[in-house]
Amino acid sequence: KIMKVFVTRRLPQEGMKILSAAPECEVSVWDSDEPVPREELLKGVQKAHGLVCLLPDKIDAEVLDAAGPNLKVISTMSVGFDHMALDEIKKRGIRVGYTPDVLTDATAELTVALLLATARRLPEGVEEVKNGGWSSWKPLWLCGYGLSGSTVGVIGLGRIGLAIAQRLMPFGVKRLLYSGRTAKPHAAEVKGEFVPMDTLVSQSDFIVVSCSLTPETQGLCDKAFFSKMKKTAVFINSSRGAVVNQEDLFEALSSGQIAAAGLDVTTPEPLPTNHPLLTLKNCVVLPHIGSATYSTRGVMSALVARNLLGGLQDTEMPSELTF
Ligand code: GLV
Ligand code: GLV
Repeated sequence: KIMKVFVTRRLPQEGMKILSAAPECEVSVWDSDEPVPREELLKGVQKAHGLVCLLPDKIDAEVLDAAGPNLKVISTMSVGFDHMALDEIKKRGIRVGYTPDVLTDATAELTVALLLATARRLPEGVEEVKNGGWSSWKPLWLCGYGLSGSTVGVIGLGRIGLAIAQRLMPFGVKRLLYSGRTAKPHAAEVKGEFVPMDTLVSQSDFIVVSCSLTPETQGLCDKAFFSKMKKTAVFINSSRGAVVNQEDLFEALSSGQIAAAGLDVTTPEPLPTNHPLLTLKNCVVLPHIGSATYSTRGVMSALVARNLLGGLQDTEMPSELTF
């Protein structure tokens, strides 16, 4: 029996190769590097048995209804799944594949790069070299904050949070605090201390947000949160933009309540070029590139294809989301 598959974007070749080699699949691809328009998505999924989607695709009841009862598997090229209405998906008995683990190293590495770039003011420095602001070596010019001897607080010590902590420890971090719903046995690998959120916020020199977006974490980093941070502390977020109240962050950064922020995620994405956060020298914003290495994106696309085929064949999916 031939099964219809809709793919919402041109994927890296590793994934496309696997899909085109599957004789049971009739694959149609939104063959572009840009997101599929909503009406094309609604059209494309009609009668589909399988759907491959990406972060910008909102998979809600409307999409599921447009697909109809054939749909048995959704395979997303992401570790996050807040773009999908899981309750609606569950109601319809649809299986979901995602891409944890394979992007952990790349995302942790990017987070460390963002932290260092923000704390040591790299984008500002690069800009000064280009615009003639570099007049001489000066004792306090472009000074920032270093990791040596510092306290780092990780909010959400999951797979990626742990990988970030493992990479930061060799910089001479003195204490590694973390908070979240539960204490994690793997925290021992980084001598992580499980502390209440307030303790983490008030004692950390660097705060790294690495939790998933849930009703509990939505807007977690707000005015009250920033007001408890040290004035010299640096805030980093590489999870989801909606964990942060951006107006409150802008206020904290512009008033000097906190030292700096580095964000790989924002609301919305892309962030409009006239957004107030982009006027601040002490805010470094990246365009959601945590997992963006050639090899990681290739491996992600292959996993996406294998998850899809497992779902279509009613067999094991290499990374099935349980929900
Ligand atoms: C990236 O944010 C992902 O969820 O894969
Ligand atoms: C810096 O280059 C120094 O020599 O201190």
